[in-house]
Amino acid sequence: MVKKQLGTYILRGRMRNVMTNEDSTAVIYQTESPEETEYLGEQIGALLGARDIVCLAGNLGAGKTCLVRGMARGWGASGQATSPTFTLINEYRRTDDNKRFYHMDSYRLSGTADALSTGLDDILDAQEILVIEWPEHILDTLPADRLWIEITDQGGDSRKLAFTAGGSRAAVLLSRLGEIFPVAAHD
Ligand SMILES: Nc1ncnc2c1ncn2[C@@H]1O[C@H](COP(=O)(O)OP(=O)(O)O)[C@@H](O)[C@H]1O
Ligand SMILES: [Mg+2]
Repeated sequence: MVKKQLGTYILRGRMRNVMTNEDSTAVIYQTESPEETEYLGEQIGALLGARDIVCLAGNLGAGKTCLVRGMARGWGASGQATSPTFTLINEYRRTDDNKRFYHMDSYRLSGTADALSTGLDDILDAQEILVIEWPEHILDTLPADRLWIEITDQGGDSRKLAFTAGGSRAAVLLSRLGEIFPVAAHD
């Protein structure tokens, strides 16, 4: 695949980490169309492996589902299906190795009991890939080592995507993504 440049390239800024409430370095990407967001998602998806957890925060219409669509494609999903086993969770499969990619939307959930009622603990045990929209609603249930992506609508078709790693696994993902889209120095 030809490497396509994202609309505005990439900068690194200091942001307040919503998870720890401490200043930490976020990697910020900006896209200028749904296609660019999907493309960014594809690149992320290609990096995902078992036990990776990606949280997608942002308002309705920010572009979370758009990013997931790209991620599933980049990972190699052979098609989307509602999970036969879990409620509120979409399951993507990859035919060549029979791996799973779970996509959860927690918009209507609140708290751990609700999260567990969907079968989330089984998915975490199964050590497959998990991507969650509205992760704030079930935060206590999620492992700390997660890639956190906060998407902000900047008006028109412009979106800011701020990436923060919650642990060493997520940090590896983020640095590999940085190899694909080099992060420009920015103070
Ligand atoms: N740069 C962009 N990235 C993603 N979506 C965009 C972008 N610009 C416009 N959009 C539009 O914003 C909407 C995003 O919808 P969706 O992905 O379902 O959001 P969410 O899941 O966050 O509610 C879509 O209608 C999409 O066409
Ligand atoms: Mg959505």
